[in-house]
Amino acid sequence: MNNYRIQNFVVLTLLIILNDQITFVAQAGAESKVHIVYLGEKQHDDPEFVTKSHHQMLWSLLGSKEDAHDSMVYSYRHGFSGFAAKLTKSQAKKIANLPEVVHVTPDTFYELATTRTWDYLGLSAANPKNLLNDTNMGEEVIIGIVDTGVWPESEVFNDNGIGPVPSHWKGSCESGEMFNSSHCNKKLIGAKYFINGFLAENESFNSTESLDFISPRDVNGHGTHVSTIAGGSPLPNISYKGLAGGTVRGGALRARIAMYKACWYLDDLEITTCSSADLLKAMDEAIHDGVDVLSLSIGYGIPFLPETDVRNGIATGAFHAVVKGITVVCSGGNSGPAAQTVGNTAPWILTVAATSLDRSFPTPITLGNNKAILGQAMYTGPELGFTSLVYPENPGNSNESFSGTCESLFFNSNLTMAGKVVLCFTTSTRYSTVSRAVSYVKRAGGLGVIIARNPGDNLAPCLDDFPCVAVDYELGTNILFYIRSTESPVVKIQPSRTLVGQPVGTKVADFSSRGPNSIAPAILKLCLGYPKQATPR
Ligand SMILES: *[C@@H]1O[C@H](CO)[C@@H](O)[C@H](O)[C@H]1NC(C)=O
Ligand SMILES: *[C@@H]1O[C@H](CO)[C@@H](O)[C@H](O)[C@H]1NC(C)=O
Ligand SMILES: *[C@@H]1O[C@H](CO)[C@@H](O)[C@H](O)[C@H]1NC(C)=O
Ligand SMILES: *[C@@H]1O[C@H](CO)[C@@H](O)[C@H](O)[C@H]1NC(C)=O
Ligand SMILES: *[C@@H]1O[C@H](CO)[C@@H](O)[C@H](O)[C@H]1NC(C)=O
Ligand SMILES: *[C@@H]1O[C@H](CO)[C@@H](O)[C@H](O)[C@H]1NC(C)=O
Ligand SMILES: *[C@@H]1O[C@H](CO)[C@@H](O)[C@H](O)[C@H]1NC(C)=O
Repeated sequence: MNNYRIQNFVVLTLLIILNDQITFVAQAGAESKVHIVYLGEKQHDDPEFVTKSHHQMLWSLLGSKEDAHDSMVYSYRHGFSGFAAKLTKSQAKKIANLPEVVHVTPDTFYELATTRTWDYLGLSAANPKNLLNDTNMGEEVIIGIVDTGVWPESEVFNDNGIGPVPSHWKGSCESGEMFNSSHCNKKLIGAKYFINGFLAENESFNSTESLDFISPRDVNGHGTHVSTIAGGSPLPNISYKGLAGGTVRGGALRARIAMYKACWYLDDLEITTCSSADLLKAMDEAIHDGVDVLSLSIGYGIPFLPETDVRNGIATGAFHAVVKGITVVCSGGNSGPAAQTVGNTAPWILTVAATSLDRSFPTPITLGNNKAILGQAMYTGPELGFTSLVYPENPGNSNESFSGTCESLFFNSNLTMAGKVVLCFTTSTRYSTVSRAVSYVKRAGGLGVIIARNPGDNLAPCLDDFPCVAVDYELGTNILFYIRSTESPVVKIQPSRTLVGQPVGTKVADFSSRGPNSIAPAILKLCLGYPKQATPR
């Protein structure tokens, strides 16, 4: 079974979840597994009738009404026709041979992903001459988000100054664990959850013990985060300890948000997973409810499935949504910076990458020889006056080949680093390398870290206002030469400042997946752009 999961990107802090696949031990032949039976465009407008035909098909296959009822997981009947049911391999084969069946596929699992930033893209709320003003900041637009759910108490869902719910909305706010209709308002206009596909695949999942809420409530934060990016209400004067200050807001400030929770947290594995059966049901309902835009920050691991491969549930659901005039936006994935990692490349989907900003956090470092260097950090503590500076070259054991790397700081005696600022080098692009290096230095009683690394890597604040400053290899080498040429090297570190605009160039974020498309390499990403019809629904 393949595995679809969440890839997380929290403002400047990044959690990259590995693309490893979960392989299951081959199971006994008669075991029932969730299969998706896809029947294509629906043949009837009455959803009840469509569902009835699904039950009949399953009944005639299984021979009993009760068995058909027990094995049915979902009936898809709004955007397209099909159903998810627990079937054995041979039953799946049999049903696939029916003339009205387009294809039958075992359920697959997906992972999560994200992006951000609007003013930088020219969508400033203060500018009267742009798309935002032309559309009254998206007031009549309903954005359906398929993700981990929503934390309705978050201030970004306040509905201050927003008009009544658009008349084309047919959805609702579903009750469940710690969630009821009182959690919806004119901003968060709908919330539903879809767990049957996941439960049918996992009998050992105990919903009582699970940390996740069996409701539209978000335990993970990803769904709340992506909703904020797309359509969050503006919250002025937000900053990280005074850095990066400004107004937090969604791209379309007045758009409505409807959450379709289809991704569930597995406590033991500490991952969030979304089954195709649940995703398809979420999309089917969203189409019925009247969303104008569908947003899925969810992806599939490498190797990708072609959009015409029926196992690609997102591409199939998206296709039917697009045919009905709904724009579908998906993340390209968080598998960068390697090439050929972009996913969700079906031509009817708008695929989004993440970018760095024209914003930086210069942090002055002054060496004992009075040479000033600008590093990057989110350090908001007091100035660290001239302090001893050390490059731990000889850890004093056989691990010399590791010496000077951030990873090897662990092997140094506490005495080497106590009371000092430590310089180290790393080629790792992982945030965990930085956080570990910092923990080794802290534990040894060190006072700061200067990390020389690839400048393309992401910046994250060090906790407890511990000075940890990133520099590129050139500056790191300059500092190293200074240390080697001086008997008692010292350094001063000042708090970071926020710099917006030049001279920082922007680029696709390091973690963001890159083209070319591994399925059609000649095409980076084809976008046919199905414009939404202007006629009111
Ligand atoms: C939006 O544009 C209209 C004219 O097209 C203008 O009257 C209005 O003031 C603008 N709104 C804002 C917030 O600038
Ligand atoms: C909904 O939940 C809130 C608190 O979470 C509670 O105060 C309220 O009574 C509930 N409303 C309904 C209709 O159950
Ligand atoms: C089922 O759930 C359990 C408990 O949360 C988890 O350990 C296990 O990995 C899950 N299995 C699958 C197939 O998702
Ligand atoms: C789930 O967990 C609860 C609480 O620990 C327990 O009482 C219940 O028996 C468990 N259910 C199953 C099906 O294991
Ligand atoms: C913004 O927040 C800061 C600190 O939280 C506060 O000192 C300042 O007065 C606030 N400014 C506005 C305009 O609310
Ligand atoms: C040297 O490094 C290896 C691998 O990280 C580690 O297992 C070993 O304990 C280290 N040796 C010493 C003397 O610290
Ligand atoms: C350094 O100090 C910490 C905390 O005092 C201690 O846990 C650790 O073992 C020491 N490490 C070495 C290499 O002495």
